[in-house]
Amino acid sequence: MAEQPVGETVRPLFTAETIATRIDAMARDIAACDLHDPIIVAVLKGSFIFAADLIRALSRQGLHPEIDFIFLASYGSGTTGGEVKILRDVESTIEDRDVVIVDDILDSGRTLSFATAHLAGRGARGVKTCILLNKQVPRGVDVTPDFTGFECPDLFVVGYGMDLAHCYRELPFIGVVEPRV
Ligand code: IMP
Ligand code: MG
Repeated sequence: MAEQPVGETVRPLFTAETIATRIDAMARDIAACDLHDPIIVAVLKGSFIFAADLIRALSRQGLHPEIDFIFLASYGSGTTGGEVKILRDVESTIEDRDVVIVDDILDSGRTLSFATAHLAGRGARGVKTCILLNKQVPRGVDVTPDFTGFECPDLFVVGYGMDLAHCYRELPFIGVVEPRV
């Protein structure tokens, strides 16, 4: 258990070592695809650590994609309704390129389906999706990621880029916040 300064503790679900090993395997799978003029689009903020590790794993596989970011915010909660808004769009040319969208966690699926439609609309040759965690929840939106790191129980998880009220992004592992007893 990692000690936190705010009366909470984080119970690890996925250790740093487990994550690193899985990302190497994901990079091999991505590199095995015949991607044309590839560009990675990482969804901010939550995916920034995953994306940083993934692109270095891709580099070790001999893939040298361009990297860009899209900053999306979700309004509303739960698996129904809600709206996704672009806070900052990609800068790069997307037309006729293979895009790989990278996000931290798939929950309702709204963020990923929005990003996929948006980048397809910008003229991508193909759009693939890569997520570290696939939360085991019933989904209103039909999204199946092309690359998945881990299946994840239906819990609110933090660490490795993911936050709870702006805390815990810096943790090198992924876990669940629990009250300290
Ligand atoms: P979706 O649009 O409902 O699939 O939500 C995906 C986004 O919500 C992710 O990119 C995360 O930023 C955030 N999110 C969903 N579940 C969690 C969680 O358990 N911990 C931290 N962030 C989460
Ligand atoms: Mg996110």
